[in-house]
Amino acid sequence: MSIDNVAVIGGTGDLGFALASRWAKAGIPVIIGSREEAKAAEATQRLLRELPEAVVEGKENGAAAAASKVVVVAVPFSALISIYKSISEHVQPGAVVVDATVPVEASIGGKATHVFGVWEGSAAQLGLAFMPKGTIMCSAFHTLSATALAELEAPVVGDVPVCGRKEGKAVVNELVDAISELRFVDAGPLENARIVEPITALLIGLNHRYGTDRAGISFTGLPE
Ligand SMILES: NC(=O)c1ccc[n+]([C@@H]2O[C@H](COP(=O)([O-])OP(=O)(O)OC[C@H]3O[C@@H](n4cnc5c(N)ncnc54)[C@H](OP(=O)(O)O)[C@@H]3O)[C@@H](O)[C@H]2O)c1
Repeated sequence: MSIDNVAVIGGTGDLGFALASRWAKAGIPVIIGSREEAKAAEATQRLLRELPEAVVEGKENGAAAAASKVVVVAVPFSALISIYKSISEHVQPGAVVVDATVPVEASIGGKATHVFGVWEGSAAQLGLAFMPKGTIMCSAFHTLSATALAELEAPVVGDVPVCGRKEGKAVVNELVDAISELRFVDAGPLENARIVEPITALLIGLNHRYGTDRAGISFTGLPE
């Protein structure tokens, strides 16, 4: 499947907006999703000010999910269940849904450097529980810095571990390749999201200790 467009649920937020901007810059039509249509429209205008050539529209989350076969979810973990429930009936049959959510304690008032256990194994698996049968679920983009992504003129260097089914990973590979210098890494089945998601908490700790906001990861020893 090659990508016609991508919907970003939580596309008004730091990570969602930065990813949407990168994909728009690469020429992929983008739909910014929000709980509020007006907020999505505002983010659309913000993106167009940065990238006047972008093909972008803003919609309420349900309408955004309905408008694309590729849906990326980037919301606080505390909102994950309500957001997945709200888009469930709108997601297209066989859509690829890519979860970037991290179960950091900060989303429920705790520390950003701590994660908590999710009964289903990971945020992505919890999200999948609310998706219609046939949804191709993937997990990706947790180890990217929204700050680095938002600087559209600078390449973002690093690896993007992607978990999920093969068909879905081929689509996410295209999304990764659209962002200059990032490398797609096949991180196995969706169950492995429970290993990848907590890396964000580690990166947040590194950011604090090293006085930056752009720590990421790279794997060594993989063939080119
Ligand atoms: N920021 C990063 O660098 C980064 C990196 C890796 C992973 N992540 C993960 O990606 C996810 C999004 O992070 P973020 O930094 O982009 O978060 P954020 O800016 O705080 O929020 C993203 C968007 O989520 C939506 N949202 C839906 N329900 C919400 C609720 N109950 N409370 C607050 N916002 C709600 C909001 O959009 P509307 O109000 O428009 O609906 C908001 O703009 C998180 O799970 C985070 O752990 C972030």
